[in-house]
Formats: sequence, structure tokens, C-alpha cells
Amino acid sequence: MIQLPLCWPRRLQLALAHRVSLPLHHFFRLLPGSEVGHNRVEVTNIECRHTPLAGRRAVQISDLHLDRYHPRHDALLVTIAGLRPDWIFVTGDLLTVSEGLPHLFRFLAGLRSLAPVYLTLGNHDHYSGVPLHRLSELADRHKLHLLVNQVIFVPTEGGELGIVGLDDPSLHRADLRCIPPRAPGRFTVLLAHAPNVLDHLDHRHAVDFILCGHSHGGQWRLPLVHPFWLPYGCSGRPAGHHRRNGHQLYVNRGLGWSMLPIRLSCPPEIVVIDWTSS
Ligand SMILES: [Fe+2]
Repeated sequence: MIQLPLCWPRRLQLALAHRVSLPLHHFFRLLPGSEVGHNRVEVTNIECRHTPLAGRRAVQISDLHLDRYHPRHDALLVTIAGLRPDWIFVTGDLLTVSEGLPHLFRFLAGLRSLAPVYLTLGNHDHYSGVPLHRLSELADRHKLHLLVNQVIFVPTEGGELGIVGLDDPSLHRADLRCIPPRAPGRFTVLLAHAPNVLDHLDHRHAVDFILCGHSHGGQWRLPLVHPFWLPYGCSGRPAGHHRRNGHQLYVNRGLGWSMLPIRLSCPPEIVVIDWTSS
């Protein structure tokens, strides 16, 4: 369980960082065309072996920060539609400011027209000031599954997919007690915003694959150089595959931005998970 409260210097640091980022978000949100490096999206393919789910496909996206609907969001829906997913996972940082709500749910409704959608929350969703009950109400209205320290089971022929959605580990809000025990035929995917969740899982946690975001891949990078800066909660994991205590994690670079609308040597990413026979 990551229930130890954040120490006050860290809370102060995170609150200050958010306060600094807010005017920037309001400013750039009103400047269409200010985004750089967001249009070329990379698709990453991952294979998971589990015979009862063979032939099924999920798409994971992360860090939408969807405060304003751009043409690139329509292009994303077209790309995801072309991938023909059975399920869509969104691992937090849905928006940054509360004014983004109608834009966000326009996009999420588009996703829902493609496949069932499972959402978790990130640090910026909490900082946005949108109350959790408002997000839950809108998710219900749009027939989206918002998972906040909850699990949902999707039955398939001969097995089932368990989808665990944790609240944000970087704010120490994740409660690992919602992870269900192992069961025959079940594949459990864990959705959490921040990669530090991996540091809190041990062999007792029946999790088959973990999907995170939060890092934005560093957002501003030089090719082949480790990112200059990562937000608290990444535990040094900017992107890609990571393993610890027998668990496997993939960190998605996300689709949006924070602070500045610029991605440098760090294209947005869509992750495709294909299940195959063992
Ligand atoms: Fe983010």
C-alpha cells in the first residue's frame, strides 16, 4: 500500500510546481498552433502471452492533458480506430485545468465509440480542482469506467481480464489492497499513473503486466541522452520496459504536455498490447 502521506516539503514542492505551471497552461491553451512536436505519434507494440486472451488487443494512451480540443485529437481517434482495440486504457493526467472538461469528454466519447474505456487518475487530475464526484458522474454518463483503487473483471471465452485501476502513486494515493488474488485463466493488468508503483509491488501481488505514464518520456530531450528532468514519481523510469520483483512495467510517453507545449526528440506514443497463445 502506498498510503504513507507525502512529507510536507514534497507536498509544498509539488503544489508550487503546479502553481507555476497554471498560468503557462492558461496562456498556451488559448494559443492554437503553439504546440510543437505533437503531431507525429509513434505506435509501440507489446506482446503478452496468455492463451485465454489470445487474439485480443488493448490500446493504452496516457497524459492527455486535454485542456483544448485540437485537430490532432481527431487524428488520434482515427489512428486508434485503425488499431481496432477490444479495450482502451487511459492512465491518468486526463486534463490540467477544469476548463478542459468539455474538451476532454468530447475526446473520451470518441474513444468510447471505438471500445470500452478504462480510466485512472493522475496528479494533474487531482490538482485540476475538478471534484472526483464530478469526474465519476461524467464518466458514468459517457459509459466510461473510471477506476480509483478499484478492479473490474472482463470475462472472455475460457478466461478473464482483470483490470486494476489505482489512484495516483506519485501522490501516494494508490491502494494496492484492491489487487485481486491470482485465479485460473485470469490475466491481470494494472493501470497506474506513475511508475513508482513498481517499487511497491512484490511477489505477493498477482499482477501480470503494469501500464503507466506520468514521465512524458522527459518531454524535452536530446537524442540518446537521459532526460534532463522527470517529475516526482518516475523513480528514474522515463519510458519503455522495466522489471522489478518479477513484475513487468511499461512506461508510455503520453500524448500531451505540461509547462510548455513542446516535445523535443520525444514523440507522443500509443501503446498496443496484443495477447498471444502461451
Ligand atoms: Fe502528465
